Amino acid sequence: MTNMANGRGQTALVTGASMGIGVDLAECFAKDGYNLVLAARSGDALQSVAETLAARHSVTVTPIVADLAARGSGAALADDIAARQIAIDVVVNNAGYGVAAAFDDGDLAGQLGMVDLNIRALVELTHLYWPRMLANRRGGVLNVASTAAFQPGPLMAVYYASKAFVLSFSEALWKEAEGTGVHVSCLCPGPTVSHFRERAGTGKTQLARAMTAMPSADVAAMGYQAWRENRRVIVTGARNAMMARLVRFVPRRTLLASVYRLQSPLSKTTGES
Ligand SMILES: NC(=O)c1ccc[n+]([C@@H]2O[C@H](COP(=O)([O-])OP(=O)(O)OC[C@H]3O[C@@H](n4cnc5c(N)ncnc54)[C@H](OP(=O)(O)O)[C@@H]3O)[C@@H](O)[C@H]2O)c1
Repeated sequence: MTNMANGRGQTALVTGASMGIGVDLAECFAKDGYNLVLAARSGDALQSVAETLAARHSVTVTPIVADLAARGSGAALADDIAARQIAIDVVVNNAGYGVAAAFDDGDLAGQLGMVDLNIRALVELTHLYWPRMLANRRGGVLNVASTAAFQPGPLMAVYYASKAFVLSFSEALWKEAEGTGVHVSCLCPGPTVSHFRERAGTGKTQLARAMTAMPSADVAAMGYQAWRENRRVIVTGARNAMMARLVRFVPRRTLLASVYRLQSPLSKTTGES
């Protein structure tokens, strides 16, 4: 982030920018001169983030309320953006959530919502703006996956699988865009301070106790820098990066047992509640 003019004249769409990592990612782009379109469901929070970033970084920030888990919401958002005469150069697919529960505990709507938001909306928004990026030979996509992407996740099965999709999809697009000037990166955070745990219900798991959550500003800064450098994948934190490499060599049964234990509620194994 040494050249403050990298993004001048360009606009980044950041999903899930009402709180958490998305706010910090949006700020990284704003700092670098990008105008912003921010999307999420919480209108007041979005408005407040938009006003703060616009004042702090002298960029144009447009908040748009959108429920991206709803079918057709990506196209509707793109229509809204086009009606405001805004052209998108960069898509930051950050909006996402998880549900920590055995598959037979979680309600189907919650499980399918993860597929709709974490996967379908991400593919839709990328597809909508990808041709323009390639034609302009600039801009790109920063997708937010997770360290969950590197192995299956019993007791959070759909979330882990959704992030494996994001990782695989992002790496494939990185290859397709090679040499075009379009950057594609997949940010894989480990546990990060945000509202994620609250919504996911992961606060009382072995994993939550075993890992210290990183500040979201640090995670976003690493993601932004990696995207600037067109790095394919960035895992935040040395321990997370080492684990992501190691899991390839662990026998699958052992890995599944270990993730199952980590995703188990503390009360189940220790009597804590
Ligand atoms: N925190 C972690 O430990 C962690 C670790 C690895 C990966 N991640 C990933 O990081 C990304 C950001 O999560 P976070 O940690 O910042 O969590 P967060 O604080 O809960 O923020 C999630 C963001 O997504 C938005 N969102 C949720 N549902 C939405 C919907 N239906 N339509 C539009 N926007 C929606 C939320 O806004 P509204 O509620 O206003 O819609 C919010 O802005 C997610 O993809 C998550 O999977 C998080």
